[in-house]
This record gives sequence, structure tokens and C-alpha cells, in this order.
Amino acid sequence: MKTITIDGPAAAGKTTLSRIISEDLGFVYVDTGAIYRALAFYMKKNNIDFKDEIKVCKNLNSKIRPSGEKIFLNNEDVSNFIRTEEISMGASIISSYQKVRDYLLDIQRNIGKEFDCVFEGRDMGTKVFPMAQIKFYLDADIETRARRRFNQLKDKGENPLYEKVYADLEKRDSQDMKRKHSPLKPASDAFLIDSTLIGVNEVREKMIGIINSKWAKI
Ligand code: DC
Repeated sequence: MKTITIDGPAAAGKTTLSRIISEDLGFVYVDTGAIYRALAFYMKKNNIDFKDEIKVCKNLNSKIRPSGEKIFLNNEDVSNFIRTEEISMGASIISSYQKVRDYLLDIQRNIGKEFDCVFEGRDMGTKVFPMAQIKFYLDADIETRARRRFNQLKDKGENPLYEKVYADLEKRDSQDMKRKHSPLKPASDAFLIDSTLIGVNEVREKMIGIINSKWAKI
């Protein structure tokens, strides 16, 4: 199977680019952040404090299944409940626990065994798929990412405060980068792309150019 990984911090454009690239190539798109989010949603629903590592780790018994753009928790579609700021932060907190990461590892790897995929996440190229044929690390400066996230929330009809969006992103990046287990960082063999000054189409062209030239050589 062919695997392309796209890692990077929050709001760097991973979702947009992963969707486009997977469509271009006819690959399955897998948003691994949604898997962590679904688990955080389960903890919230069961009144389990995200910060209570022992309790979180004692409650790793739910079935999480991504399917296309949807994510199922114990056979219930929870896709519409996982995109809140509380769940973003909760997912970031519980994702720092080794047992949580181990619990979710096979779900991700098993999908990669069955389909040609584009996987989006934080540790796709470093930990989950170290043998992936092509790895990208997508980044942009924090002001650009905060502005993009702010506009996304406005487009969704919300009334965000830019300073809060910025502070939340900064906190989440710091948690994701400084955690002990599988911290966010570029794989040593990842192609680094900074989208601060370039738009979606240009990033797409760069990525497709890299994919084509790499696959021509394999
Ligand atoms: O990509 P996202 O914003 O939906 O991810 C939510 C959180 O889940 C993120 O802050 C950290 C965690 N996560 C992770 O630790 N590893 C992944 N592969 C994907 C997400």
C-alpha cells in the first residue's frame, strides 16, 4: 500500500491539503486528529477529567472508527460534536498519555494496511508510519494560522475573539510539541513546506510535484 503523511501544527492547512491531495491521487483521506477528538468526546460525555491520566487510561474501551469524512464512536456518528475548542484542548491533553497513543496506534496502522492513504496528524511520519513513502511537514507562522482559524470560525457563524484563537493555538502547539511521547516534529526525511506566504494552489502544486518526482524514482 502507498502512504503519504502530512504532519504539522494546528491550522497549518493540513486538512485542506490532505483532502485535495487524496482526491488528486484517488487515495483515502484519514484525519487522525478526529480519532483523538472522538476519544476526548467520549471522556467528556462520561465526565472524565482530561487531566486525570489514570482515569482516562482506565477508560480506553470505546470503539473508534473513521469512515470517509465521518468519525464513529461506538457506532454513533460523532463528527458534528468534535470540533469545539473544548474538545480541541481535550484531545491535545489526552494525546500526551502514552497509553492513549498506544491504544490508537493500531486503528491508524490497520487502515494504512488496507488502503492507499493520505494520513494527516502530528506523528504520522515520525511514529505511526515511519516507512511511509512520502512525508510532508506543513507549517505557517502563528499569526497566519490564527488568522486562518479565526476566519474559519467566522465562516461557521461563530463570533470568535482573535486574541483567544491565537492564545489557544499557541497553547495547543506547545503541548503537542513538548509532550514526552511522539511530540510534534518533522520526520528527518519529511519535505518541509511553509505556507505563510503562499496559497493553497501553490502548496498543492509543490506537493504534487514532489509526489510525482519521488514516485517516478521508486
Ligand atoms: O489535528 P487536530 O487539531 O484535529 O488534532 C487534535 C489534537 O489531537 C492535537 O492537538 C493533538 C492530537 N493529535 C495527536 O496527538 N496526534 C495525531 N496524529 C493527531 C492529533
